[in-house]
Amino acid sequence: MNGGEAEALAAGLVNDGYVAVVLDRLAKQASGVIGTERSSIFVRDLDDPRKTILAASNGTGDELVGSRVPERAERLHSAVDAAVTFRWDGAVRGALSVRSTVASRRFTPRELDFLTTLGAIVGAAVRHAHARHEPVPDAPGRLGDFAEMLSERDPYTAEHSDGIVATACTTARALGASTAELLELRLAAPLHDLGKIRVPSSILAKPGPLTARDRLVIDRHPVWGAELLACVPGLEVVAGIVRFHHERWDGTGYPDGLSGARIPLASRIIAACDAYHAMTSDRPYRRAMSAEQAISELRANAGSQFDPQVVAELEKAVDRWALIV
Ligand SMILES: [Fe+2]
Repeated sequence: MNGGEAEALAAGLVNDGYVAVVLDRLAKQASGVIGTERSSIFVRDLDDPRKTILAASNGTGDELVGSRVPERAERLHSAVDAAVTFRWDGAVRGALSVRSTVASRRFTPRELDFLTTLGAIVGAAVRHAHARHEPVPDAPGRLGDFAEMLSERDPYTAEHSDGIVATACTTARALGASTAELLELRLAAPLHDLGKIRVPSSILAKPGPLTARDRLVIDRHPVWGAELLACVPGLEVVAGIVRFHHERWDGTGYPDGLSGARIPLASRIIAACDAYHAMTSDRPYRRAMSAEQAISELRANAGSQFDPQVVAELEKAVDRWALIV
């Protein structure tokens, strides 16, 4: 995807109604990442800050979304299993809560960390929504700028962007991704390494082997990419996908150590497609592998690094469309 296409997609996202869609998607992302059947996003009513509105929910019935939460329900809300508030200008503006229907469910400190991370992203989305009466930042332009900055800093990513997007979308369709998931994937795939623009050139373009310290810096790029994208209205869900694109199926990835189906599907697809395109490309330190060798490598790591279902569908996509770079 080039900068113009990215801008057009982002322009669609900032049209009227995008906020409801984004909050709905963020509620689903929170349930998926934390592994709960239910999640809710509450926001303070701007006209009457003593009241709370249910802005989005997953697993609790859509009919209540958009309604004020009565006092009795607020008491119920206070009994949910886990919640994190978000605030700005010194005031609490809302909360993200998750609830399990399994009575014995207990949240681990790591899961509460995930909740804090996602709460910050939800808070950014709500703040963007509240700011709509103020001068609107040039969101599509900023997305195009991001694509250009990444292309300058990491030409490999830009060169292989179209191939990664095509392979990722084919794989996602085969796995039954929804229209919303496909759109998010289409935006996240070319920008998944955006955070590398914060990695010093002395490390990113280092000809020799990387030190442990260099590796620590590079490994921050999913977090930095997510932070940059969460600043753009409409791209908050995409930020979550980018944050988790180096997680591994077995839970030994970074930055959060998420595992299995808790990792957003789009992040799992990007991880496998990016690895496939990297292996089938010439790099300064090695020659390209054949498509067969790359698929065999992905298969060998299915169930440890990669989602086995994603690998199986990616293999079919490569076979069918001969997407051999
Ligand atoms: Fe990456």
